[in-house]
Amino acid sequence: MSKNNNYKLSADWSIDSHISSLDKYNELYNESIQDPVGFWSRIAKRISWYKPWNKVRDFDFEKAKIKWFENGKLNVSYNCLDRHVESGDGDKTAIIWEGNNPSEDKKFTYTELLFEVKKLANVLKKLGVEKGDRVCIYMQMIPELSIAMLACSRIGAVHSIVFGAFSADSLRDRINDSSCKILITQDTGVRGKKDNIPMKENADSALFDTPSIKSVVVVKRTGVDVNMVEGRDVWWHEEMNIADDRCDPVHMDAEDPLFILYTSGSTGKPKGVLHTTGGYLVYVSFSHHIIFDYKDGDIYWCTADIGWITGHSYIVYGPLSNCATTIMFEGVPNYPDYGRFWDIVDKYEVNQFYTAPTALRALMKEGNSWVKSRNLDSLRILGTVGEPIKEPEWKWYYEIVGKGRCPIIDTWWQTETGGVLITPLPAATPTKPGSATLPFFGIHPVLMSDDGKEIEGNDVQGLLAIKTSWPGQMRTIYGDHQRFIDTYFSQFPGYYFTGDGAKRDGDGYYWITGRVDDVLNISGHRIGTAEVEGAIGKTNGVAEAAVVGFSHDIKGQGMYAFVTLMTGVDSSNKIRENIIQSVVKEIGPHAKPDNIQFSPALPKTRSGKIMRRILRKVAEGDHDNMGDISTLADPLVVANLISDSAQV
Ligand code: WT7
Repeated sequence: MSKNNNYKLSADWSIDSHISSLDKYNELYNESIQDPVGFWSRIAKRISWYKPWNKVRDFDFEKAKIKWFENGKLNVSYNCLDRHVESGDGDKTAIIWEGNNPSEDKKFTYTELLFEVKKLANVLKKLGVEKGDRVCIYMQMIPELSIAMLACSRIGAVHSIVFGAFSADSLRDRINDSSCKILITQDTGVRGKKDNIPMKENADSALFDTPSIKSVVVVKRTGVDVNMVEGRDVWWHEEMNIADDRCDPVHMDAEDPLFILYTSGSTGKPKGVLHTTGGYLVYVSFSHHIIFDYKDGDIYWCTADIGWITGHSYIVYGPLSNCATTIMFEGVPNYPDYGRFWDIVDKYEVNQFYTAPTALRALMKEGNSWVKSRNLDSLRILGTVGEPIKEPEWKWYYEIVGKGRCPIIDTWWQTETGGVLITPLPAATPTKPGSATLPFFGIHPVLMSDDGKEIEGNDVQGLLAIKTSWPGQMRTIYGDHQRFIDTYFSQFPGYYFTGDGAKRDGDGYYWITGRVDDVLNISGHRIGTAEVEGAIGKTNGVAEAAVVGFSHDIKGQGMYAFVTLMTGVDSSNKIRENIIQSVVKEIGPHAKPDNIQFSPALPKTRSGKIMRRILRKVAEGDHDNMGDISTLADPLVVANLISDSAQV
């Protein structure tokens, strides 16, 4: 092990942890790679099946065919709820909901949650939802969101959650892409100082052009007046009041779809990542149990929004399948003040805390007193997800938040992977700030060279790919299997390509270096440059746009847009404002560019391809080494870009 950056755990850690030492990790890891069928058939028994599978796995990456636990039958809501109630844990708290306003909170026991889920399942059935139908959910972080997910899974409907900050246009496109039958939303939302986020109003705008939607179920969150369309919209509370509370779970095939979640790629429209029932549940259940060393009675908190995969896998399905107590937080880290996270940790005596590096950087900047004035002794494990964690925030998390007692679990994964693929295990893996360390069980990462060869050995760098399938892997892009093949399996035939670059150090530890494609990671939010460019391009007067990322202290990456205006159109604050408005309308406020630079021309090759490498250098302010610009159609463009950047 390299000496300086290596954090070993104190001995008392290993006493009763699920994976208690590096040797145990290695032993089990080797088994999982050498005998995946034996390994996963044993692990799959941690959940309950109506009927066992007859084949553990069947995959062919060249054809992008992936199947796990074929012909096995199960139900996700049964596994997350009924099973625990039947085994005597009905009174255990399943969800703790903490409102945006610190005085608002609510708890649901497993029995109570099951009761709500069964009723909502009947509401959906009454509205005509059948097995296989898609249900769109557009909500803030309120308990009804989790209830809606579980109710869909109970009757075999496929949910498609659209993050609550997405605009009406984005919502419309996602509804249409998977022709959802029902939309579930809320009147308005509260988040931080915003107390009237127009959810229903956005939904109404989206629904002008969504022929598949038959009904809208509206949760009353704030009670403000919203428009209800006769014959289409119903109130959640009214329907729930009259709904029957008996509803048997549907027996689903392991490979039946569980949900669709849209994510951005480097080109084209967002992709509907499809996850299925059996493999996904096995993977998130097992990984949540092991990675967070979850034990009965622990209070677990993941601060993500359920609108992203982290919330699906590690707020709802992983924890609830493990009969955990999971916290759902409606608010933000800086409301009412910068101590909010730590107040919540103390209020519920949180044991496992899982957040994004961007939140840590934002809090770290405000000084240590917000943390030090809180107790935080309940914390045992501190996780991060979504982007590389750099050494300063890693150390701050470790020393100031965890007081040197809690391992930092830097988890690398993606919407596509369903669950965590590379991560330390709390009692087993000595950590190094900035490294996601070693693969999880059953995961075989490889580094590839540009020409498609596996790079062997240690102290090497390459493109991160995965060599064999794992149960939580996405199965297709909804409605476009060819795109699934092209995006993930064509780069390196026979491998799943992640889109990330990585290093493997002398100890075999992985260090994710970031996306190698045109996908940005802004405050842990994944944004496709092509989508933003499309939105900017719709602004009146804009001829062309190119968007790149640059290093940003808090957000990890910031967004820098180079915009060429049409001849005769002058750059002005007005057009700048229009560009921003267009992005907010087309995508949402989280995709606004930080910097906009107007430039008379973009650097292009003679064949007309924009050279983003040059734009990235300009955006970083790194003007000295532009590299080879001889292939540019007009090398003079570069000098202009540099001189114009001084005005941004
Ligand atoms: C991309 C996936 C997985 C849930 C949240 C993001 C980046 C994710 C890490 C990490 C370095 C990370 C990668 C990946 N990423 N976790 N621990 N260290 N980078 O899911 O929106 O699908 O984004 O996020 O670049 O490809 P996502």
